[in-house]
Amino acid sequence: IGWTLHLHDVVDSTNSEALRLLGQGIEAPFVVLSERQTGGRGRRGRAWISPAGQNLYYSLGITIHNGPHQLAGMSLVIGLAVRDALHRLGVPDVGLKWPNDVYASGRKIAGILLELTGDPAGECHVVIGIGINCNMSAANSAIDQPWTSLRNELGKGIDRNQLLLVLSESLRGYLHRHEVEGFASLRLEWEANHIWHGLVASLSAGDREIVGEILGVDADGCLRLLVDGSERTFSGGELRLRLR
Ligand code: BTN
Repeated sequence: IGWTLHLHDVVDSTNSEALRLLGQGIEAPFVVLSERQTGGRGRRGRAWISPAGQNLYYSLGITIHNGPHQLAGMSLVIGLAVRDALHRLGVPDVGLKWPNDVYASGRKIAGILLELTGDPAGECHVVIGIGINCNMSAANSAIDQPWTSLRNELGKGIDRNQLLLVLSESLRGYLHRHEVEGFASLRLEWEANHIWHGLVASLSAGDREIVGEILGVDADGCLRLLVDGSERTFSGGELRLRLR
């Protein structure tokens, strides 16, 4: 596929390492992989538990030439690419939770963290960090939400080299489509894979809790909620299902 691989036994975070490489002027695209992370980072300042040898800790560094166009909806498109890769590896029921959590059979199987350096209005770099639970043992109780792994879903261990290849191919394909056609052409595919489409959920954004019916996403990937009879859009926050 032609991307340089930077392989590590241990790093603080593959995203941090990718950001350092960009800072040193290393040319993108490249991928940083590590067997474990001592300071794995999740969204919203959370830690990403990263034991050795059991999962995939992957960061892809890319160059963006046309910021505003290419960044709109990008984090959702990455979700689609990860979903597609897991689906192609045989995971039966993979879906997305806005903005980019990847779920299998109702439990989280992968997480995505995008970080940007440079000028988002023009040329910049994005580090696309992806953590996929592969063979993590059930004994891992430090994780604060229901989770699953490829081994759970497939009933057998998986070859992480194969996962690396399938994931990279998927990312390349979706990123290319996104760059050429924009998020508009992927919006319906994203909505079709949203596990909570049409359900009532609560969104916590900052110190607010907003309850509404999930209508979908807009052309920039913002969440559309029906709140008290009118449609509102949100660019960030955390969704929870609301039981009626
Ligand atoms: C989330 O769901 O909160 C996002 C998790 C992202 C984890 C990956 S693992 C590889 C890369 N390096 C990090 O420190 N974080 C991302």
